[in-house]
Amino acid sequence: MKVLATRRYPGPAFDELRDLEIGPPAGPRPDVEAVIVANEAVPLEAFPALRLIANFGVGYDRIDVRACADRGVAVTNTPGVLDAATADLTFALILAVRRRVVQGDRIVRAGKWSGSWSEGFLGREVTGATLGIVGLGRIGSAVARRARAFDLRVLYTQRTRVATELGEYRDLDALLRESDVVTIHAPRTPETEGLLDARRLSLLRDGCCIVNTARGEIVDEDALVRELASGRLQAGLDVFVHEPDVPAALLELPNVVLTPHIGSATIETRQAMTRLVVDNILAAERGEPLLTPVAAG
Ligand code: 8YV
Repeated sequence: MKVLATRRYPGPAFDELRDLEIGPPAGPRPDVEAVIVANEAVPLEAFPALRLIANFGVGYDRIDVRACADRGVAVTNTPGVLDAATADLTFALILAVRRRVVQGDRIVRAGKWSGSWSEGFLGREVTGATLGIVGLGRIGSAVARRARAFDLRVLYTQRTRVATELGEYRDLDALLRESDVVTIHAPRTPETEGLLDARRLSLLRDGCCIVNTARGEIVDEDALVRELASGRLQAGLDVFVHEPDVPAALLELPNVVLTPHIGSATIETRQAMTRLVVDNILAAERGEPLLTPVAAG
């Protein structure tokens, strides 16, 4: 199978692709049968022989799966293998924000640490807080399991209520009102885009920490920036609407920790993602069922 990849993807599995070219997903390319992208749009008309788009990532919101299905192009993603890494980063952000880790690092480096901080530089306790999880799928569940170790009270919301020991169900508005920390683990879909709009953000308690390792578009970014600039909320943000651009107003705020979309960015996880991408392509080559196909909604 002639494969076009938008870049080199990490790990030895990538070298198992025999007929591989690295380049932009642009055409016309009548020879290309499979494309590897990281949630990037593929102009289908430029690839008349395309059979598979293998997405390096679990989220595929920039790929038009319906149009692919109409043209007989399969789409695969990389679910499961990145749950732990993303859940770990979620906790890194929760801890960093609540305990002012990044702010503290800056102060120490700037030589502004002036002796005892017994009354200043206080953060907020993580242990015992109420954590609201928006989307109790694979990643949200991995976050809920980690929350047990911190004695967090876990609330969750999602479209369909499930029988679970991982947390108590709340509708979204109630979850926002009750939580000390809200973390987003929903896919970006037409239903979740703008889910946390200005009204919903206003329901959050003063001092609430909002963590987003999912997709920037799920939150009304302008409204969030306003709330953060006023100092009412705190945030740990790994994703943004116009990546790699970040709203300028966030850059100076002490109550925000910013990371460059690194939820899945560990050596182990990225190599496992590449393995799954390659295994899907090899399965397609052999005419076998794909390992992790995406269903056209
Ligand atoms: C990116 C992600 O795909 O899995 C997802 O949905 O957002 C990430 O894993 C990865 O960072 C490559 O861009």
